[in-house]
Amino acid sequence: MAEILERSKGAVETSEAQIAVHWREEEYYYPPAKFVGQANLTDPSVIERFSEKNFPECFREYADLLSWDQYWHTTLDTSDPPFWKWFVGGKINASYNCVDRHLAKYKNKAALIFVPEPESEAPVSVTYRELYVRVNEFAALLRDFCGLKSGDRVTIHMPMVPELPVTMLACARLGVIHSVVFGGFSGEACGMRAADSGSRVLITMDGYYRNGKMIDHKAGADIALEIAKKEGQAVDKVLVWRRHLGKNASASPFVKERDFFVDEILPNYSGEIVPPVPMDAEAPLFLMYTSGSTGKPKGCQHRTGGYLSYVAGTSKYIQDIHPEDVYWCMADIGWITGHSYIVYGPLALAATSVLYEGVPTYPDAGRVWRIAERLDVNIFHTSPTAIRMLRKSGHDEPAKYNYHFKHMTTVGEPIEPEVWRWYHDVVGKGEAVIVDTWWQTENGGFLCSTKPALDPMKPGSAGPGMPGIYPLIMDENNEPVTAGSGKAGNICIRNPWPGIMQTIWGDRDRFVTQYYSKYCKNRSSKDWHDWPYFAADGAVLAVDGYFRILGRVDDVINVAGHRLGTKEIESACLTVSEVAEAAVVPVVDEIKGRVPEVYIALQPGLQASQAIVDKVNKAIETMIGKIARPRRVLIVPDMPKTRSGKLMRRVLAALSNNMNTGDITTLANPDVVEKVREMVQGKEAVALADGPEDLKKFGTEE
Ligand code: WT7
Repeated sequence: MAEILERSKGAVETSEAQIAVHWREEEYYYPPAKFVGQANLTDPSVIERFSEKNFPECFREYADLLSWDQYWHTTLDTSDPPFWKWFVGGKINASYNCVDRHLAKYKNKAALIFVPEPESEAPVSVTYRELYVRVNEFAALLRDFCGLKSGDRVTIHMPMVPELPVTMLACARLGVIHSVVFGGFSGEACGMRAADSGSRVLITMDGYYRNGKMIDHKAGADIALEIAKKEGQAVDKVLVWRRHLGKNASASPFVKERDFFVDEILPNYSGEIVPPVPMDAEAPLFLMYTSGSTGKPKGCQHRTGGYLSYVAGTSKYIQDIHPEDVYWCMADIGWITGHSYIVYGPLALAATSVLYEGVPTYPDAGRVWRIAERLDVNIFHTSPTAIRMLRKSGHDEPAKYNYHFKHMTTVGEPIEPEVWRWYHDVVGKGEAVIVDTWWQTENGGFLCSTKPALDPMKPGSAGPGMPGIYPLIMDENNEPVTAGSGKAGNICIRNPWPGIMQTIWGDRDRFVTQYYSKYCKNRSSKDWHDWPYFAADGAVLAVDGYFRILGRVDDVINVAGHRLGTKEIESACLTVSEVAEAAVVPVVDEIKGRVPEVYIALQPGLQASQAIVDKVNKAIETMIGKIARPRRVLIVPDMPKTRSGKLMRRVLAALSNNMNTGDITTLANPDVVEKVREMVQGKEAVALADGPEDLKKFGTEE
């Protein structure tokens, strides 16, 4: 972990940019010769080719990895900043690029290998030919049975099964915009997203295995429909895939004329071929909802041509995917990592992509390595949370299995150098190159990473900007932070790139304010140089040009690599009638990085009780899902507030993390802080920690 030794003098309020950060410079690790010998990207001229003087045309290299129905005439159109347009005039179909075009050479090769959670069920391979058949048949069903056409939106709430990529690719074939909601999100969360996207079809599944149990998943669909209706959106068809054909794993009522088992109607479309619709490069391919600073998740709208080019290019050069590789990304397809690096990127390159249904440690800590051995996986992609979990539960397990990774990825959160080294030495057996890829739902693909055969690795640092990505760190005074200064600031990307989202679905203004207003130099400028992208992450830049990402600088909590908005959790708490005020803060967690902690003030006259705590927990689980479960729900006598009545989340975050609360004498009720401290930390004074950067910053902008 970073060792933070010193804060800059004279800073009254700690702003990210004013904090001097020092940490032990980690030593370089060099890519193994065996890896370099076979890598896709070994020519150092890539740096020159993707340098600013060749921007934006450099991205032709990525677009040329794809098969276009019509070549584009303008690589980048900047006429309506910051709504950049890529490969304008081009026409392309994502489903064709991920399936049809591979048939000539690879029809008998596995596109997907599905690994069911129960070890009694053998892995199932889906060849490119079989994928082609399934995608076509399902596309025919979507078109003819559901009446869907290009531009329509469909919400998909499914677990990790091959039917999920089949569904996505069938949508893409028709130009239908899919919105996949993570299967672990609740019915309510799904319903809100279905309403926002204006979906009239919901695609779900009866059930799936998780931690040894069959989960009733379809029950969520009934709730989702109710919520969507309340929000003014009628969903009139629910397509239900079944985990075991002909058997129903869900106890939820089957609504005639509305619910349909896919396996019952799909035979009507047997053998049908649906021509892929040539889509404008700028046509939306999908929406992916993510948390931000407001109570309502935003639908990141991703374009077809730019997005697919970017994920194909980065999968080839950074993931080093060759068609003969067995590639396993352990993320869930319901998150952006899964979209880009389980489905679209790998399949665009004719890779074999592994899908695992269940929990990595089920039934024991050796499961992941048994899968790797059995399938002979050679590229492995996961998050620091999973690595920490596997390290804790089975430190020596990997050595027991005969698998060999050439390449491994870590993504989603900062990784502690010692955890990185375990990943390298024990999981990778010292043979694999590692990339630490930094990016976000909004970005489509990687923004910072080492180039695996060209750059040395540095534990805990993501690395330099990707080819064609020019990051910089800005301080609060709009000044760039120089490399090697040790100062933390806000990481920005100076330029547009093909994978960046188009807009927030239905909310152009929020797109501009959220990502561009902070550092825009001139609102009327049509020059992209005036529109740096604000990522809302703190970072430090070392002299070697490597970025070390410190974490979010807004009120988003990164729980196990998944984004949760504190405001979303607070809104859920406020649905409990006894609750007058709610404040949610991030707390450091050994495995998950951060977890939420909830503070509650009750309506006047009410007594704190376990029953209320239970209600709050239940509300969070119902409104969002189990992943948002707080560490604790603390009912406090009063919230620390400023004299103008602002709730001081910063103070609560400091208490939850045993950090210094800073000056509290100016609060309206400073005495309440000690009362709350006792509730949180106990009567005895605890040793105070300096705390990580994101927590120091948390709540300071309110
Ligand atoms: C946030 C984005 C798209 C990746 C999956 C998460 C954090 C992401 C790293 C990394 C340190 C990272 C950032 C970012 N993050 N990758 N390699 N090192 N932090 O996507 O849910 O949109 O979350 O994840 O804080 O802003 P997401």
